[in-house]
Amino acid sequence: MIKIAPSILAADFAALGDAIARIEPAAPDQLHVDVMDGHFVPNLSIGPPVVESIRKRTRIPLDVHLMIEDPDRWVETYVRAGADMVTVHVEACPHLQRCLTRIREAGAKAGVALNPSTPPGILRYVLDDLDLVLVMSVNPGFGGQSFIPASYAKVREVRSLIGPRPIEISVDGGVGTSRAAALAEAGADILVAGTAVFGAPDPVQAVKDIRSASEVSK
Ligand code: DX5
Ligand code: ZN
Repeated sequence: MIKIAPSILAADFAALGDAIARIEPAAPDQLHVDVMDGHFVPNLSIGPPVVESIRKRTRIPLDVHLMIEDPDRWVETYVRAGADMVTVHVEACPHLQRCLTRIREAGAKAGVALNPSTPPGILRYVLDDLDLVLVMSVNPGFGGQSFIPASYAKVREVRSLIGPRPIEISVDGGVGTSRAAALAEAGADILVAGTAVFGAPDPVQAVKDIRSASEVSK
């Protein structure tokens, strides 16, 4: 079954604990936490203290998506704050293999995010150091953007690149019920959804709808 990772970026930050509590009955597989620094992406979001507060409020695994420059410097801090997975952008990480090793040594799963224009082949020599590939289906920095259709082919390419290795593929940006079946069919394991979940009148139902839409292809 496909996993669903609601992105809290689309939740009300003044009532984050309530938003997370409200989504728990849907048993989301992960919570996706978007960290932006105003440099790597043209937007600012949250930092370690917020991750720490979220960790105290839920047992849902946290995938912390670092859209920041120099992510190497922050790995241990985010793992200490409660990240179960730390995902760094390959475009921000010239010493990627070292950074991924650092994430695992700190005790978290290691993820790499690819911007829409970044070819998957860049991961060829770090496949043994990876647990997750996050395929960005929008340019990172903002929620509520339109899904880029070339992402379907990208997911297929990542799937064939990783072969039998136990690496999960997550898709992030503009994902909702209408994309779920085709993404599952292309080989996605995890769907990140912000607006489609927290922007919906009933976020629990929205998670269920995305899940069941993804089953259509099976
Ligand atoms: C975009 C973030 C996404 C964002 C997705 O930079 O990485 O995780 O929250 O939001 P939606 O689902 O609204 O496109
Ligand atoms: Zn994200």
